[in-house]
Amino acid sequence: MTAAIPTRVVILAAGLGKRMKSPRPKVLQTLCGRPMVAYVIDQALALDPQQVLLVVGHGAEEVERALAASGQRERVTLVRQEPQLGTGHALQCCLDALAGSTGRIVVLYGDMPLLSGASLQGLLAAHADAPGGAAMLTAFPDDARGFGRILRGEDPAAPGFGDVLGIVEEKDASRAQREIPEVNLGVYCFDAPALLDALPRLSNDNRQGEYYLTDVIAMLVAARKPVVGVELEDPDEAIGVNTLSHLAEARWAMQVRILEQHMANGVFVEDPATTYVDHGVEIGVGARILPCTVIRAGVRIGAGCEVGPFAQLRAGTVLEDGAEIGNFTECKNARVGAHAKAKHLAYLGDVTIGARTNIGAGTIFANYDGKAKHHATVGEKVFVGSGTVVVAPNTIGDGATTGAGAIVTREAGIGPGETWVGVPARPLARRARPGDASPNRDETR
Ligand code: UD1
Ligand code: CA
Repeated sequence: MTAAIPTRVVILAAGLGKRMKSPRPKVLQTLCGRPMVAYVIDQALALDPQQVLLVVGHGAEEVERALAASGQRERVTLVRQEPQLGTGHALQCCLDALAGSTGRIVVLYGDMPLLSGASLQGLLAAHADAPGGAAMLTAFPDDARGFGRILRGEDPAAPGFGDVLGIVEEKDASRAQREIPEVNLGVYCFDAPALLDALPRLSNDNRQGEYYLTDVIAMLVAARKPVVGVELEDPDEAIGVNTLSHLAEARWAMQVRILEQHMANGVFVEDPATTYVDHGVEIGVGARILPCTVIRAGVRIGAGCEVGPFAQLRAGTVLEDGAEIGNFTECKNARVGAHAKAKHLAYLGDVTIGARTNIGAGTIFANYDGKAKHHATVGEKVFVGSGTVVVAPNTIGDGATTGAGAIVTREAGIGPGETWVGVPARPLARRARPGDASPNRDETR
């Protein structure tokens, strides 16, 4: 059983990401609400390894902060690579941390967020057939853009026909080598002692003047160690993100996966092409997500809810079962009670709304006073009239009503069952004094 073999994973995440033309470290570029490297760390942890080393360099502090935010900081050991002299050099920086390792070392690149656990398991299984050597993932993509090409024995009459001989980087490849359709994905499983033996012997004698990890493959072949290439089945997994255009492509592939999972769980998604659901969103069975809707990481949507079309649910939003958020409604840090509704043109920011409350069209919770954000609490079965502005902090009791266009000033505190109308809003009937001009009286027409 392969699980008994000691496994260490090294994730390379120190590169500059020049081709992104972005000030942000490449591995922190986000797709579906999460930095790329967070997905790769998940892939590594799924192998149940002894240790995960993350090689950082460019923007190392920023990467460390992002890991703390994603809750993964404690799961990885950071290794600094300074300066960044190539993927082989990145592994050389881990030599101390890996000294004396037995078993296997899996290497992943931090810019491959779509790799699946099944493919990695396939890699480990293949490595079991290459004792003392290496297994690596390969693919035959339509566009080999920048990938290293896999060199194999070409002479059908010679021994070793079809065997992996090495990897040539695109920049170093001859015209004929560039025609090779099989590419290196940068996902390897090495015999630990064999890798540790080869790393110190890498040279940087190539077009980029870098120490290439890929050269280890030819070194293993020269030492007569077995090397096997495992072809990846799903080409989407091969998307390595080097440019913002690749990032958009990877995001789309990730989005499809996320939506497929929700649909498999019984969530109706009318138009996946215009539905944006981040990683880590919970959606209950029977919920309906309508077109042109954006649902951000961490949002929780109960069973039977309806969201959209044209809705945005931002961080901290929880919709309890049967709640409905309709078009041009934005929720942020909003808890919306069971069967409550905000169907049109509303901003629900920093608010708790009770069950079966109706939020009228054009309602705004004014949560920001220019310095700080404030919370508002609305009870159950409240009727908030169209165009109401509730200035937070504030509370509206169960069963209360606001008239259309009411401006509920800060800390006004509408009691249960009360009806408030006007600008600024005042209680109707109960607190209105006889003779008071009540310009909003006809509001109830
Ligand atoms: C690399 C492979 C190439 C493969 C491709 C797959 C090498 C020499 N080439 O090329 O064969 O087809 O990946 O996607 O390995 N990094 C460091 N330190 C460094 C340089 C890079 O940590 O000094 C990290 C980067 O952050 C990145 C990963 O290593 O996560 C890959 O580096 P990148 O420059 O993107 O390599 P490619 O040119 O794509
Ligand atoms: Ca890359």
